[in-house]
Amino acid sequence: MRFAKRNFRLFVGLIAAVLCLGGCIQPEPDGTENESATQPNFEQVTVEHYYETATYAYATEVDEGVLATGLNKAYLVLANKNYVLGEEYEPEELVTLPSKWTTYSMKLDLRAANALIEMMEEMTAAGIDDTYVTSAYRSYTRQQELFDGYKVKEMNGFSTEAYALLGYEYIYSHYIANQMTGLTPADAEKVVLSYSAAPGTSEHQTGLCVDFITQSMAGVLDVRFEDTEAFAWLSQNAYKFGFILRYPEGKEETTGYSYEPWHYRFVGREAATDIYYANLTLEEYLGAVGE
Ligand code: DAL
Ligand code: ZN
Repeated sequence: MRFAKRNFRLFVGLIAAVLCLGGCIQPEPDGTENESATQPNFEQVTVEHYYETATYAYATEVDEGVLATGLNKAYLVLANKNYVLGEEYEPEELVTLPSKWTTYSMKLDLRAANALIEMMEEMTAAGIDDTYVTSAYRSYTRQQELFDGYKVKEMNGFSTEAYALLGYEYIYSHYIANQMTGLTPADAEKVVLSYSAAPGTSEHQTGLCVDFITQSMAGVLDVRFEDTEAFAWLSQNAYKFGFILRYPEGKEETTGYSYEPWHYRFVGREAATDIYYANLTLEEYLGAVGE
């Protein structure tokens, strides 16, 4: 009997050790109760990527040295309304993403793909299996098609985005009161620029970002993504895989775009961890605000 009990304890101990070794997600500091909440001290984790073997602390404090060393990394390239990629820009190495996680065949930068695969595997292991990547790398030409398509849409009616940007009063007095049924090309472009990058300026052209969608959203990507389990999980865990929420709510002035809960950008774990804990945008992290 004693022997059986000891064996049982050994067995439980072994299971606990295996679970501990296998669990690569660290508990989240809750931000209130103890010192480790403000000074995360996560273990060092060695990860074998296709391109390098690296050791990371999953969480670090923001310090100037870390910020400075991270800045010359190619995967920290900035693409926005002020930092234009242009027509010729192409990512160094694109790979096709596994089809089980995409809504159609699409490519991503090798390093971002590597991290994304790890992240999707971990998210699936956490029980979230209804989430797909619906957009990854987009060429200049593809972005042009999308941008032009959105403009046509805005010229054919008054979208939620149009009301959000221009306001009801403006749309009523300029359009509805004059029996007009859609925006002028100038207003349409203004509205589109609040949610879509003009060709040559989209982060999707870097191959370093993805848009997620869940099955329940039935092909329509919008802020409902915020209410999904995937969003809740990504909010807590994406930085551990080197991804950041690129267009946060309340940071529209800095990023140039309205809130996109579905758009995640690969910046590497070091930068992502700093950005996450310091609540920064990529522009703020790179010191590129207002230039
Ligand atoms: N929706 C983002 C801003 C893009 O078009 O790249
Ligand atoms: Zn996107």
